[in-house]
Amino acid sequence: MIPAAGRGVRLGPGAPKALRALSGTPMLIHAVRAMAASRAVQLVVVVAPPDGAAEVKALLDAHALPERTDFLVVPGGESRQESVRRGLDALPPGHDIVLVHDAARPLVPVDTVDAVIEAVRDGAPAVVPALPLADTVKEVAPAGGPGEPEPVVATPERSRLRAVQTPQGFDRATLVRAHETVTGEVTDDASMVERLGLTVVTVPGHEEAFKVTRPLDLVLAEAVLARRRL
Ligand code: CTP
Ligand code: MG
Repeated sequence: MIPAAGRGVRLGPGAPKALRALSGTPMLIHAVRAMAASRAVQLVVVVAPPDGAAEVKALLDAHALPERTDFLVVPGGESRQESVRRGLDALPPGHDIVLVHDAARPLVPVDTVDAVIEAVRDGAPAVVPALPLADTVKEVAPAGGPGEPEPVVATPERSRLRAVQTPQGFDRATLVRAHETVTGEVTDDASMVERLGLTVVTVPGHEEAFKVTRPLDLVLAEAVLARRRL
């Protein structure tokens, strides 16, 4: 499932982020192809911007996918969580492993996708691709007032921290239960499974699975595509 319903506020004004072009092709199409590159992927559910489902359907019709891959388009919601829930609601029976992959990570390598699938097949209820951090991370408290600095309250040991990416992989029933049970804001799908008390496992992430969030990320994504063409 590919949640693609966000506006992309941090990328700046323009079309919804998933529909912006990367070397002439919408980011969403890159992301769909990256997932469909795995031989294990049978169906791609795209969660489209709420008013853009017809446009997304037309885009997918116009870009060839492998013969083995079907797709389905559903309109998204206000939050990423709501978009994923709508995608799950639309998922037909017969698919017991679900990967949730940000449209905003268009360049994820197929080996990462396959590693996530394999770990779910091996019995993990939830799997995340993870990378060590380059930066030290600080926890801060709110600033004392406007213009005041934010005081640092803690420095978690960096070697124990990981930045997590997508696709995140799930046993379908577990992900459905997480969405039925967990309330409150989350920033990834696996954290909902953690709140059920289940163990989420990691597989190695990949630097090319970075999320296109800010304008500089578009420059990096174009550079990665240019390097692949060499
Ligand atoms: N997403 C979604 N529905 C939402 C919000 C986000 O399907 N209501 C999707 C985005 O389209 C993206 C993924 O979730 O593929 C990761 O979200 P993010 O990178 O935050 O994208 P946006 O929410 O679009 O960007 P921003 O937060 O800068 O507005
Ligand atoms: Mg967002």
